[in-house]
Amino acid sequence: MSKAICFGITCLDILVPGLDPSEFYKETIRLNDFSYSTGGDAINEAVTLAKLGHEPVLMTVLADDAMGRLLTDLARSRGVNMDHVKKARTHQTAVSIVCVHKDGERNFIVNNGSDNEIGEGTADWDAAKDAGVFCVGSAYGAKGLTECLPAVLKRAKELGLTTCVDIMIGSEYVGKESEADPAAFLKYADYIFPNQSEARWMTGETDPDAMAEKLLAMGAGCVVLKDGENGCCLYRKPNHGDGGVIGKVFVPAVRCEVVDTTGAGDNFLAGFTAGLLEGKSDEDCAKLATATASASVRYLGAAGLKDRAEVEEILKEMRP
Ligand SMILES: Nc1ncnc2c1ncn2[C@@H]1O[C@H](COP(=O)(O)OP(=O)(O)OP(=O)(O)O)[C@@H](O)[C@H]1O
Ligand SMILES: [Mg+2]
Repeated sequence: MSKAICFGITCLDILVPGLDPSEFYKETIRLNDFSYSTGGDAINEAVTLAKLGHEPVLMTVLADDAMGRLLTDLARSRGVNMDHVKKARTHQTAVSIVCVHKDGERNFIVNNGSDNEIGEGTADWDAAKDAGVFCVGSAYGAKGLTECLPAVLKRAKELGLTTCVDIMIGSEYVGKESEADPAAFLKYADYIFPNQSEARWMTGETDPDAMAEKLLAMGAGCVVLKDGENGCCLYRKPNHGDGGVIGKVFVPAVRCEVVDTTGAGDNFLAGFTAGLLEGKSDEDCAKLATATASASVRYLGAAGLKDRAEVEEILKEMRP
């Protein structure tokens, strides 16, 4: 078991399933049930890392309120170390009401919550010293989080941690490509994990190879370009990581019965991080990531997959 830091957004998801948008106009809507779940990329990743047999330490901001306490209990019960979570000063705990419509489409109603207080002070460096990997979920997910990345990633690297940065273009950044400035933090990012539309937003390029090349030129050590049900492509600089294949490696997704792709990217990052903690090659990390993401899309919600054994079964199917 090895320790990883999951730094970034955490919220409480309230899942409201089976709605038709017209129902919003009724005075009262009565549903059989709705469920509460941990949500936000940093905690999704942490929960999956614990299921994969590792020791995730969550570094985020939560308010000292009922939702914050519920999240803390839920995460602890799933094996996440919550001892280094910082208290919000002015915001309530971030809550996302996830309305799942009958056709599977989703709408999110989100408060202006504690994720707005994530910044340089959210990192607890004493607790990070003996960790192997420092993961960010996600750059561009919130303003304070994005702005602190150069300083936080630099410090993580000075402490000898491998740095992984997921990407999510949050509402504050949509349509604001000019504010991206990825070069500010990419020089401290050993691995970044954009999907194709995020990479396009960051680089202005439309061709996947050109996007990856630009991100590498801006400083990233390895670009893992995700493409949903198609899989992902690794692009690496010479001398990066395990010294294996240089250039481009494609890892196809695993075809499966898909129930819900929410959190596929977060689970992918958890699998990749587990691989890094276990000393695997980059290509094997991508395979473990793909198997973990594939396990997760077979269940409802972001934290659905059962355990490591399930992921290992999928990995066996993937081997030629
Ligand atoms: N429908 C699917 N079937 C099988 N595997 C999938 C599917 N969708 C995603 N995956 C796996 O998950 C990985 C990451 O998914 P995706 O490319 O959608 O990331 P993302 O856009 O960051 O996701 P998210 O919306 O969760 O942030 C893919 O590379 C693939 O391995
Ligand atoms: Mg994503």
